Amino acid sequence: MKLDDVIKAPEFAADPYPVYRQLREDDPVQWSAVWNCWVVTRYDDVRTCLQDAIRFSNVDRITGLFHRHFDADQLAQLQPLIDHYSHGLINIDPPGHTRIRRLLHEVFRPSTIGRLSAFVQTFVDDLLAKAVSAGKLRVVLDLAHPLPVHVIAQLFGVPLSDVPLFTAWSAGIVKFMQSPNPTLEECLRSQQALLDLRAYLRAGIELRRASERDDVLNLMVHARSEGDALTEDEILGTAVTILLGGHETTTRLLTTTLLELARHPEQQEKLRRDPELMDTAVEEFLRFAGPFHRDQRVASVDSGLRGKTIKQGDTILMMLASANRDPAQFPEPDTFDITRTPNRHVAFGFGPHICLGAPLARLEMSIAINTFLKTVPSYKVVSDPIDWEFGFLRGPRELELQLES
Ligand code: HEM
Repeated sequence: MKLDDVIKAPEFAADPYPVYRQLREDDPVQWSAVWNCWVVTRYDDVRTCLQDAIRFSNVDRITGLFHRHFDADQLAQLQPLIDHYSHGLINIDPPGHTRIRRLLHEVFRPSTIGRLSAFVQTFVDDLLAKAVSAGKLRVVLDLAHPLPVHVIAQLFGVPLSDVPLFTAWSAGIVKFMQSPNPTLEECLRSQQALLDLRAYLRAGIELRRASERDDVLNLMVHARSEGDALTEDEILGTAVTILLGGHETTTRLLTTTLLELARHPEQQEKLRRDPELMDTAVEEFLRFAGPFHRDQRVASVDSGLRGKTIKQGDTILMMLASANRDPAQFPEPDTFDITRTPNRHVAFGFGPHICLGAPLARLEMSIAINTFLKTVPSYKVVSDPIDWEFGFLRGPRELELQLES
């Protein structure tokens, strides 16, 4: 099976899992000419690539895309975007990366995340109360999109009145990453959103240097470990990653989860009867419906993987969602089972870059789904067919539900 033959087919976006299965079985490390990279689909190989930062690097994983697609004039226009993605957490390897993670460890303590729980609960209660009285829910618009961006705004101490700006920047920046072959115009639009967000955050950093506040931006500004501190560029890079990494991902997971619970009424019923199952259920939502389908690295040296020669500079796409359905790791991988244990999925990645916001994503998911099931006795999916967006993230563009009392 050739991935390139189906890559643009609407059926692939609607259900990529049969294609992933074929790839795992026939050719688990396959070259895609369309995406111009290696596509790795088995669980063990995906974990190897994610773990081995010496062979599979984060450096140039985003900037490499610009150098492949654009000429010198175009690159000059994209310099601010290139500069941003040449530094910071997601664009570097250990030991520099380990240094930043150590400082962030001081910021993302369980107590920092735990304090958000009351905010998440009140926010979800309010959104769902409106939906219940209307008898319908547009999941993305009414719940899954506003929730995570408000949580991140709360994390950064951003006033409610600025949340629409935050939302627009987040959607604007992520646009160029959703296509493996973005146009110059798409990149320039993303760059403008990024510059606006950076200017906004820079002003916030200045304020917190002058006088301390009670938020994560403040914690980043004042984090110290062994006499070390984060530079302004590192704070900006991390803050942008938190906004992008924590917003669109959670939106899609929440939406796909409500879809899967509707498609699997017996699992929904089980969770309604026993909310104590929420912890294992959230892990299964992540495994079965995880939004982060393709993660990316660049080969730092020539090396081999399953008999294929990977050349220095080649891009490798690690298909996290395929790894999460690999029968070599998960018995009956296409069964949605909210009691599945063990469940060592890679929906949050693996190795040095494993998701920094995983505890927050788990908190939002468990409060949102628990509250939804308590507030809405039964529901039906109205959207048909579902319009899937499928870039490095996958999820329905919208999901309309009819809520029944
Ligand atoms: C369902 C929700 C989420 C999913 C599926 C998800 C997934 C991921 C994945 C797969 C990675 C690893 C990327 C790589 O190795 O290249 C990652 C990294 C990251 N995530 Fe998340 N994420 C989610 C929510 C969040 C939230 C809520 C935050 C913050 C508030 C966040 C912040 C980050 C950051 C800062 C990184 C970079 C870590 C590093 O490079 O060291 N994520 N995420």
